[in-house]
Amino acid sequence: MDTASLFENQVVVVTGGGRGIGAAYARMFAARGARVVVNDLNGDAARESAAAVGGVAVPGDASTEAGVEHLIRAARELAGPIDIYCANAGVARAGLIDIPEKAWELSWQVNVMAHVRASRALMPQWVLQGHGMFVSTVSAAGLLSIPGAAPYAVTKHAAFAYAEWLAMTYADAGLRVHAVCPQGVRTQMLEESGPAGKALMEESAIEADDVATALLAAILTGQFLVLPHPEVGAMYAGRATDPDRWLKGMRRQGKSLPTQWIPKVAPQDHPAHPPLVAPNSPL
Ligand SMILES: NC(=O)c1ccc[n+]([C@@H]2O[C@H](COP(=O)([O-])OP(=O)(O)OC[C@H]3O[C@@H](n4cnc5c(N)ncnc54)[C@H](O)[C@@H]3O)[C@@H](O)[C@H]2O)c1
Repeated sequence: MDTASLFENQVVVVTGGGRGIGAAYARMFAARGARVVVNDLNGDAARESAAAVGGVAVPGDASTEAGVEHLIRAARELAGPIDIYCANAGVARAGLIDIPEKAWELSWQVNVMAHVRASRALMPQWVLQGHGMFVSTVSAAGLLSIPGAAPYAVTKHAAFAYAEWLAMTYADAGLRVHAVCPQGVRTQMLEESGPAGKALMEESAIEADDVATALLAAILTGQFLVLPHPEVGAMYAGRATDPDRWLKGMRRQGKSLPTQWIPKVAPQDHPAHPPLVAPNSPL
């Protein structure tokens, strides 16, 4: 199928579009005729990515209420009514049981509330016009969890649940939702994930453009769940059918990582402060 003008005259907003997966989305949509609005916390990255696709940049925080309102207002002024919103900005915080409150809070705001706030601001327009598309960049960690990064695993599950909820609630009003759930993708996030993240994901890692291609394929077929690593589907099914077996596998995986996730000594031998916090993010 020729997709050259698939998004002709459509306005697409991509949060966290300054680099990585978001920048790949921007390229994919722009190459098919969309007017792309690139948001990123990093203003230079947003401007560079927007310029590369002939789009416009709206730098800023896409997670706060004020930031989302500003982004949506500016996108409408600069490019017109929004057809597609890619809630893509995300943060990966690693840690075990004593991970600080602020890492949980940041993960909750960026990985989840950003999606809630954007969809809340967009739905009135989308219901009125009878169509809209919400793309949620989740992660395979939102379907399968991930050792050593509790806030990431938990908030990505929440992002996935929210995408499902949006889809089941507003599909009849014309909303299309896509939940994109890759494993490792060669971006700065993976680069910064340290030896544990690399051990978990590097071997099967794909390029950011592969994620955008998988999203395009799902848009064409109308599929909600986007699996750039197709093997994730079988693992997700395995988890649902035999949770104990799946947990055993996850324990094995956690133990095999180069980072020491669990104190190697018995607690009575190490009463002072066992090394509960993993020094590296696995993603
Ligand atoms: N890289 C991977 O292996 C991988 C795998 C699965 C899912 N993901 C998800 O894909 C998405 C994109 O990740 P990436 O790998 O491209 O990461 P990245 O770190 O390379 O890029 C993320 C971009 O988001 C921006 N950003 C962060 N917080 C923001 C905020 N509050 N407002 C606006 N911009 C913000 C950053 O400045 C950065 O440019 C994330 O949601 C991530 O969780 C990544």
